[in-house]
Amino acid sequence: MPPDALRGREHLLPAGGRALDVACGRGGVAVWLAGRGFAVDAVDVSPVGLAAGAAAADGAAGVTWIAHDLTTGLPGAGPYDVVVCQRYRDPALYPALAAALAPGGLLVITVLSEVGDSGGPFRARPGELVAAFGDLVPHAMAEGGGEATLVARRRA
Ligand SMILES: C[S@@+](CC[C@H](N)C(=O)[O-])C[C@H]1O[C@@H](n2cnc3c(N)ncnc32)[C@H](O)[C@@H]1O
Repeated sequence: MPPDALRGREHLLPAGGRALDVACGRGGVAVWLAGRGFAVDAVDVSPVGLAAGAAAADGAAGVTWIAHDLTTGLPGAGPYDVVVCQRYRDPALYPALAAALAPGGLLVITVLSEVGDSGGPFRARPGELVAAFGDLVPHAMAEGGGEATLVARRRA
């Protein structure tokens, strides 16, 4: 499945290359990206989620499943033509996500937000994504209903 923030905006994807799915869970987005021709690194701390993703992929090529604790940073170097981070929020990781983008690379990020929901330590403050990724060129951003999203591109 496409990342939620990319639905209706699939044309923004580069033609191909390398993709990183951060906190991939069961890998639905990673498998979708692989189906679009990307070589995907799918990273999660959960071996259960990774195993479910690999089983769903059923041996299809294109996804490397990587068990890794993101609180220690990203597992490897970019650059990536697409970086997806959907429903995993760690502001300390934001600079690494931006730095992992290749020139012209696309970031697609969705985090829990306190806009339209309660506050708390797990939710982004208003404007958090735009401030964190201000060096990128935004294509779409939204806050509301307890989520914040940003689709933005590194300058070529
Ligand atoms: C809400 S799920 C989102 C999964 C997927 N991105 C999606 O949109 O369906 C959050 C994911 O973050 C992963 N996660 C939580 N803490 C992590 C960490 N420190 N390092 C890597 N992954 C982590 C969980 O295992 C889980 O798969």
